[in-house]
Amino acid sequence: MREFILYSQKGPTGPFNVKDLPGSGRVDLIARAVISALWISHKLRDNVIHISLNGPPNSPKVITITSNIRRVSPDERAIGLWINKILYGKSNPGITLRDMSFGKLIEEKINEGKNVFVLHEGGEDVLNVKDFGNPVFVVGDNIGLPDDIDGKKISIGPTSYLASQCITFLNVFLDRQSSI
Ligand SMILES: C[S@@+](CC[C@H](N)C(=O)[O-])C[C@H]1O[C@@H](n2cnc3c(N)ncnc32)[C@H](O)[C@@H]1O
Repeated sequence: MREFILYSQKGPTGPFNVKDLPGSGRVDLIARAVISALWISHKLRDNVIHISLNGPPNSPKVITITSNIRRVSPDERAIGLWINKILYGKSNPGITLRDMSFGKLIEEKINEGKNVFVLHEGGEDVLNVKDFGNPVFVVGDNIGLPDDIDGKKISIGPTSYLASQCITFLNVFLDRQSSI
């Protein structure tokens, strides 16, 4: 199963203004990453995305979204609404909320035996990676990633892409290898 981690430096850790997703810690960016990680045409992928939220008022938190998500369509507003509901304490079978730091989340994945790949423009060319094993891909937001992440840095090319574009690329790339 493919897993993704999105590091969101300003992602809200309490209820926010759902009418202003970009102004609420870039929830628009988070929602696009979720769509890219989980949706294909007319159905959900068996993937998982973790969002490391590091903005006010109660950071850090991790929201995990799986294909068990219910009553959500692949549009930014709907996903933003659900992230807000979860932060308000509502439940959805495919979304969990934990008080957890980004470092602890990476540690958890390493302990689970995942291969951690850190998406970075200057990393090793993804085309040269022979075996992804059981991968978790770590992607930064518009601000980027912390420097000191345990994992192998990989690049999808010299151009700096949006986080959601990196996730889409990886999904299509791995679909075509059809191994994971
Ligand atoms: C919009 S970029 C971040 C730009 C930010 N100013 C920086 O310098 O890191 C969002 C994230 O997408 C990933 N990314 C963007 N382009 C990439 C590329 N060509 N190869 C690998 N990862 C990339 C990185 O994880 C990056 O943190």
